[in-house]
Amino acid sequence: MKEFKNVYVFNHPLIKHKIAILRDKNTGMKEFRELIEEITTIMTYESMADVALQPVRIETPLEVTTQYKVPEESIAIVPILRAGLGMVNGVHKVFPTAKVGHIGMYRDEETLEPQEYYCKLPDGIEKKTVFLVDPMLATGGSACDALDALKKRGCKKIKFMAIIGAPEGVEKVATAHPDVPVYVSTLDRCLNENGYILPGLGDAGDRLFGTK
Ligand code: PRP
Ligand code: URA
Repeated sequence: MKEFKNVYVFNHPLIKHKIAILRDKNTGMKEFRELIEEITTIMTYESMADVALQPVRIETPLEVTTQYKVPEESIAIVPILRAGLGMVNGVHKVFPTAKVGHIGMYRDEETLEPQEYYCKLPDGIEKKTVFLVDPMLATGGSACDALDALKKRGCKKIKFMAIIGAPEGVEKVATAHPDVPVYVSTLDRCLNENGYILPGLGDAGDRLFGTK
């Protein structure tokens, strides 16, 4: 795959360990859900190195000092329904007060084209740093359309986080949205003829919610 300035692939050993278990077809729904959440929390830490901090006055037991905090209300989480829901708690572990918007997209199984069926975002989202989350970045259609939808509604600072990315999808999103940092835990080999990521983990939504 070409190199992109806005693509970050994590090679953290702990993430690799957890992804190995996540991929295993014998990993059950409960453990799958917990792993998605844990990996998301690690990714959130890793992707926040550039977060804007605000000076605050703090009184320690010994003296007054100026320290730095992430401003309340500056972060929003937007999962792409359904599978993105599995990542919300993982970001909330780091930013418990982050408001949550939802974008509903499904892939037409024949054409693999994404269809938007729902969008509800918190007030003032255009001023926040938005974490758009979806465990799977396959053809990139869903992520590109969700990013278009957020930008259309005024969002300016967006970070996209996916647990597994296919080169095809990463390239598509990175090219269409060069202003959006794209974070993936791992870059897989390719897509199969049905648009599934190889080696992948199967259908993330079904494994998270026990459908199928
Ligand atoms: C999956 C996944 C992404 C999308 C990725 O969702 O969670 O949203 O496919 O594919 P793409 O990059 O080719 O667009 P799916 O459409 O299966 O819906 P679900 O989350 O409801 O299971
Ligand atoms: N969506 C999934 O859930 N899995 C894939 O491999 C591709 C798209």
